[in-house]
Amino acid sequence: MQRQIRISADLEALSTAAASRWVALAAEAIAARGEFHVALSGGATPRRLYERLAAAPFAREIDWSCVHIYFTDERCVPPDHQDSNFHMASEALLRHVLIPPEQIHRIGISLAYIRQDAAAYAELLRKHLPKSVAPGVLPPATLVRPCTSKESMPQFDLVLLGLGPDGHIASLFPAAGIAVTEREDRYAVAVYVDRLKAWRISLSLPVIAHARHILMLAAGEEKAGIVRRALDAPESPPLPVQRLQPVHEMEWYLDQAAAAQLRDRVNR
Ligand code: 6PG
Repeated sequence: MQRQIRISADLEALSTAAASRWVALAAEAIAARGEFHVALSGGATPRRLYERLAAAPFAREIDWSCVHIYFTDERCVPPDHQDSNFHMASEALLRHVLIPPEQIHRIGISLAYIRQDAAAYAELLRKHLPKSVAPGVLPPATLVRPCTSKESMPQFDLVLLGLGPDGHIASLFPAAGIAVTEREDRYAVAVYVDRLKAWRISLSLPVIAHARHILMLAAGEEKAGIVRRALDAPESPPLPVQRLQPVHEMEWYLDQAAAAQLRDRVNR
């Protein structure tokens, strides 16, 4: 597992750098496998990245017909609700590029059937995503064990993540039913977030961990403390972001404000 930290001047520069990385990863996946399977994060940070991808010069550098869109998590609201991650991504990106509709995989979520909805999304991932043949041997002691056998795991080419103020990623919050979110046979989970008094559906940690690439985006001085904590030694109990042990590559895209408390960790 490699971890790279890239620091940009501000959110605009961070979004440009992340858009360039997206273009490169998409071209690599499409050249190798003819498809690019990417899970979009919600929240505010990635919106500008999505807007940059939807416009010149980036929009014309991506073969959108080969792109398959998924979501890292979703709130329990209608898809046209202002709090919906699908709605934000649609407004900023999906309505502006030519992705075949059958390649946009929204998380269907309803309070009355939320566990069934999570199971349905897990099945969708199993059906549509390529498989990663897990390493046959246990990796060194990690907080989240990737597959421990030759069983396969649905594998994204790219997962985008934001970092919550409490160290949550996707909708994996501290103490929110950690055990179920780490089961290797669960690809998507329904979680009740006590702090928000709300249900969410989220990708599970193992599915995120097995992505070929993970881009973590964090910007603003309000994230400086949690970014430092996230990159420090695991706390007890570990923050959700610390429980994520990527099997392949994870890159942190920060602005200077969010990186303000990091010393000598920067890859120039
Ligand atoms: C969500 C996201 C969540 C988000 C973080 C950071 O549904 O809200 O998936 O994990 O990435 O909370 O959010 P900001 O980018 O708004 O700080």
